[in-house]
Amino acid sequence: MCIVIGRSESSIVTGTRTPTALRAHEGLPDKRPPGVERLSWNPTQYLKFGDLRLRPAIDLLSRVSIESPKHIIDLGCGTGMVSAVLRERWPDARIVGVDDSPEMLAKAREQISGVEWIEADVESWAPDEPPDLIVSNAVLHWLDRHAELIPRLLSTLRAGGVLAIQMPKNFAAPSHTCITHAVNSRPWRELLEPLTRPDPVASPAQYHALLSSSAVAVDVWEIEYYQVLEGNSPVVEWTSGTILRPLLNALQDTERTEFLRIYERCIEGAYPQGPGGTTLFPFKRLFLVAQV
Ligand SMILES: C[S@@+](CC[C@H](N)C(=O)[O-])C[C@H]1O[C@@H](n2cnc3c(N)ncnc32)[C@H](O)[C@@H]1O
Repeated sequence: MCIVIGRSESSIVTGTRTPTALRAHEGLPDKRPPGVERLSWNPTQYLKFGDLRLRPAIDLLSRVSIESPKHIIDLGCGTGMVSAVLRERWPDARIVGVDDSPEMLAKAREQISGVEWIEADVESWAPDEPPDLIVSNAVLHWLDRHAELIPRLLSTLRAGGVLAIQMPKNFAAPSHTCITHAVNSRPWRELLEPLTRPDPVASPAQYHALLSSSAVAVDVWEIEYYQVLEGNSPVVEWTSGTILRPLLNALQDTERTEFLRIYERCIEGAYPQGPGGTTLFPFKRLFLVAQV
C-alpha cells in the first residue's frame, strides 16, 4: 500500500471540526441541512470551465492501471465529460453514467453516445452487476456519510476491481471563506446559513485508513492546480456553477445583487487580476484510488 501526499502544505487536516463526511462513523449527527440536499445544476454554467474541471479526472485515471474492465460506472457523471474519456480508453466496456440531476443527464445524452445513463441518487444506488471500475470525479463532496458510502462502493466491486475518487479540497480557500463572509454580512444570514455546506472532505490519512480496511492497494494524493482564468470575476463565475447556486437561488433579485457585490469584493481582494487580465485561482484536490 502507498500513501502519497503531494504538492501541498496544509495537506493533512483542514480544520478543527471533524468533516461531516466522516461524522457518521463516530455516531454524530450527519443529516444535511434542508436545501443542501439537492443542488439544481446548470450544465451550461458548469461547462464554462470544462477543460479545467476535466484535468483532475485525467490525472485520476492515469493512476488506474486496470487492463480491460468490462463494466465501468461513472458515478455522478454530470454532463458525461468523464464518461467520454472512459469510452475512449475502454471502447469495449459497458459504461454506465449515474447522476441524480435530470438537467446534467439531458446534456450528457445529447453529447455522448455509447453510454447507459441512469438517474439515481448515489446514496441509494447499487449496480445491477459487480463493476470492474467505479470512477467518481468531483461528486462525493456533495454527499455526507463517506464512512458508510465508500466501504459500500468498494463492496460492490468485482474482485480486483478499482474505486477511483477525486474531490475538491478547497473549503478553506477564499473562494469558500468569502461565501461565509457574505452570508454573515447581512440579515439574510438566518436564511442562508442552513444552505451553506460545511467541509465534507476528511484528511488524506482518514481516507487511507478507511480504504485500507477493505482494499488490497490504496493510493492517496493531493494536487493543487494553479488555474489561470480569463474574463471579469472568473472565480465568481466558477463558484456560480457549483457551491453558490443554492444561496443565489434562495435570494430575491435585489438581495442577490447585493450578496454578489459583497462576495465579489472579497474575492477580488483574494484573487486579484494580473497584468495580462488573467486571474490565478489555486485549487486543491484530493485523489483516492483503491483496488479490492
Ligand atoms: C461537479 S459535478 C461533476 C460531474 C462529472 N463527474 C464531471 O467530472 O464533470 C457533480 C455531479 O454530481 C451529481 N451529484 C451530486 N450529488 C449526487 C447524488 N447524491 N446522487 C447522484 N448524483 C449526484 C450532480 O448532479 C452533478 O452532476
